[in-house]
Amino acid sequence: MSESSQIEIGANAADIARNRTVGAGVVDDPYPTYDELRKSGPVHEGSISAVFGIEGPESVAWSDRRQFACYDWETVDQVLRDAETFSSEWYQQSLGMAIGRSMIQMDGLEHRRYRALVQPSFTRREMETWQKRWVEPMVHEILDDLVERNDPVDLYAELCAKVPVFTIASSFGAAPEDVPRFHELAVTFAGASGTPQDRLRASQEIADYLTRVIEQRRSQPSDDLIGLLCEIEIEDPDDGTHHRLTDGEILAFARLMLPAGAGTTYRGLGLLLFALLETDQVDRVREDRSLLDRAIEEMLRWEQPLTSAGRLVMRDTELAGVSIPEGSVMHASLAAANHDPTRWENPHRFDLDRPSQPHSSFGLGPHLCVGMHLARMEMKATMNAILDRLPGLRLDSQARKPWITGLTFRMPTAVPVVFDR
Ligand code: HEM
Repeated sequence: MSESSQIEIGANAADIARNRTVGAGVVDDPYPTYDELRKSGPVHEGSISAVFGIEGPESVAWSDRRQFACYDWETVDQVLRDAETFSSEWYQQSLGMAIGRSMIQMDGLEHRRYRALVQPSFTRREMETWQKRWVEPMVHEILDDLVERNDPVDLYAELCAKVPVFTIASSFGAAPEDVPRFHELAVTFAGASGTPQDRLRASQEIADYLTRVIEQRRSQPSDDLIGLLCEIEIEDPDDGTHHRLTDGEILAFARLMLPAGAGTTYRGLGLLLFALLETDQVDRVREDRSLLDRAIEEMLRWEQPLTSAGRLVMRDTELAGVSIPEGSVMHASLAAANHDPTRWENPHRFDLDRPSQPHSSFGLGPHLCVGMHLARMEMKATMNAILDRLPGLRLDSQARKPWITGLTFRMPTAVPVVFDR
């Protein structure tokens, strides 16, 4: 079953329960609540999910600790840039439980060292190669099939869901026949379907697969991502020594790429399509492709796929006048920061003509998303292919009207479309 159909209200009880945890089908418009909270100050005690009466994934981690959350640009910016007070060790009890220790969970020197090792593989320039080699051929192959089928299509399930996982799988050097299985495992692993046990099993199967790929690349170099990670030798920014990544380090990073890079980009693509279709601006962008970068950034500000980042408080501190004791948890609401009316006029509106300024959707500070050039490239290349190949693209008026839903993650319920053949 596709993830989008699981979001539909009326799916089976287990699916509804799972989707409820990320707020899908439960919270459709969290922004008025953020506005209300901000009125009485940007920092409040309690997790973000608790405000909406659900037990979201971010409230389950470190649940024995006092939880706080911040809801405006200034405090979110302050929390994410001050890693000495607000530590990413928070991830130990969330993502770390499924993938083990990886750089998203590290701080300071250790984090800088790991990040410096992988960052050169994700530059804008590298992504041009990925685009030509993996993304464009795959997107056109999927579109060939959709155009030929001559029936209504849910682009969210049939295109958006496939692009990011297929891209990551290709960059790992997965054989084409292994990609569909990889996709299945990634969806389970990233928590879109299945029980915690299913997730652990999927995580282990991915680890076994990647371990075999790493072994092969060590004996026979290759220019895919795993091959490059095996070869890279880089100077440590702090002590000047040279390192190669160990198998364990490559594995930890590769496994982090799936939850960090697949679910987020998949939802982002769906949100981008939804925003342009719903506001009747597809043709405007089709005719003036220079608007596409702006559309992507405005979508990310308006409906960020991932809406918060957690941190563990390392010392007694004060944030916007609220005392926060050492050992507490602080949730930085990226979504509320992106809708702070002191920074953006009419923040709840998707406005292609808005003057551009940085948003928080890829995070802020030392953990700024390593994959942001990859995500932007995937969304742009996919959207360009859609605009080239699907004339007259519009929402299917015969299908159930889609909407955006979710709290921890934001996503469209579906993107049902028709186009001129
Ligand atoms: C639209 C798509 C994406 C969104 C909205 C997004 C969002 C984010 C955010 C908010 C963070 C910071 C988390 C924090 O500070 O706690 C982050 C970090 C990260 N993202 Fe992304 N991401 C996206 C795509 C990707 C892709 C495609 C990759 C693939 C490589 C990726 C890999 C990572 C990694 C490895 C980190 C950790 C960086 C570090 O610890 O220094 N992301 N992302």
